[in-house]
Amino acid sequence: MSFLASRPDRVKPSPTIAVTTKAAELKAAGRDVIGLGAGEPDFATPEHIRQAAWQAMQEGHTKYTAVNGIIELRRAIAGKFKRENGLEYKPEQITVSCGGKQVLYNAFVATLNPGDEVIIPAPYWVSYPDMALLCEGTPVIVDCPAVNGFKLKPEDLERAITPRTKWLVLNSPSNPSGAAYTRAELKAVCDVLVRHPHVWVMTDDMYEHLVYDDFVFTTPAQVEPRLYGRTLTVNGLSKAYCMTGWRVGYAGGPLELIKAMNMVQSQSTSQTSTISQWAGVTALNGPQHFIAENNKTFQERRDLVVSMLNQANGIHCHKPEGAFYVYPSCAGTIGRKTPEGRRIGSDDDFVEYLLDAEGVAVVQGSAFGLSPHFRISYATSTAALEEACRRIQRACGALV
Ligand SMILES: Cc1ncc(COP(=O)(O)O)c(C=O)c1O
Repeated sequence: MSFLASRPDRVKPSPTIAVTTKAAELKAAGRDVIGLGAGEPDFATPEHIRQAAWQAMQEGHTKYTAVNGIIELRRAIAGKFKRENGLEYKPEQITVSCGGKQVLYNAFVATLNPGDEVIIPAPYWVSYPDMALLCEGTPVIVDCPAVNGFKLKPEDLERAITPRTKWLVLNSPSNPSGAAYTRAELKAVCDVLVRHPHVWVMTDDMYEHLVYDDFVFTTPAQVEPRLYGRTLTVNGLSKAYCMTGWRVGYAGGPLELIKAMNMVQSQSTSQTSTISQWAGVTALNGPQHFIAENNKTFQERRDLVVSMLNQANGIHCHKPEGAFYVYPSCAGTIGRKTPEGRRIGSDDDFVEYLLDAEGVAVVQGSAFGLSPHFRISYATSTAALEEACRRIQRACGALV
């Protein structure tokens, strides 16, 4: 009998990390590889935030803090929720963790009993189903195909709800599709939830600030105040503030839930890094102009990638509202053959072919629960993106 518990068997390693690792290995072996798998901005953390971390260390902020984070940071987060989302959270209704990932994990640990159902619209961020499984919950996947703009239809949500449903996980703008809900679309989803008071909403707003073409971001507790008492509003500094390695994620929610999440965290990591927390205060309270500057670059890259991919034979690419991903369909390549005579039978095959033939690393849609698609992260240099898209066009052109 194995020494290991059954828990790790329930989940699979992150496929996005697997692609990044494979691309790095090929590169180390001398292959010319362009990696489009990473889910982090290629921009450096802004100088004033790095300075704040340095100053925090100089001032001796290098010791343990409260589990749920320093009060200065929780006040800054409460200010952000009020200013940007019109949401009132008291500092004690806020928890700070080692990234949004730990916030979500704490929430599942604190709420899921075996067999509790978690509704997850697909395509989804790879971690939601696995986290729910680790906590003995049951993921209920609802397909949101490209014809629906990769968004959850109210009638599909209605059909997925059962007496065992505990959470609906929403993620707008989305990883991997970049799709974001308009206020009206979100309201229609919330209207369903109003009729089912036992279902709570976990809204992952990690990409809130990364929206383009004047898109206006909204979040469930804001568009439907009747859901405020059963919504966990999750956010973090990783993406818009280019702080992936600093590990600062946070959430606002009902006090009882937040207290339970703090309890869970107190027996695992305690708190996130004290230095990162102080840098976080400056991130939220300091200048914000760099976000718009970065977004300008992201939007140009999105437009470039969408246009070039739509010129590739067999690829169709939807133009997303936000985040830094596109999620094109490769349906037009399925059933065709590579110059070596290998048949493309799935998005996994297509992705493998791109890496082998042209050294372009992307992630297969099967990893995100909706095929046949693949995900490209455009959080990389414009020159690399242009070259990668040329190679994808060439690879698609070579299929017979
Ligand atoms: C949708 C989504 N949620 C949460 C996270 C977690 O971010 P972090 O733990 O760095 O805050 C990510 C990171 O890739 C993400 O894409």
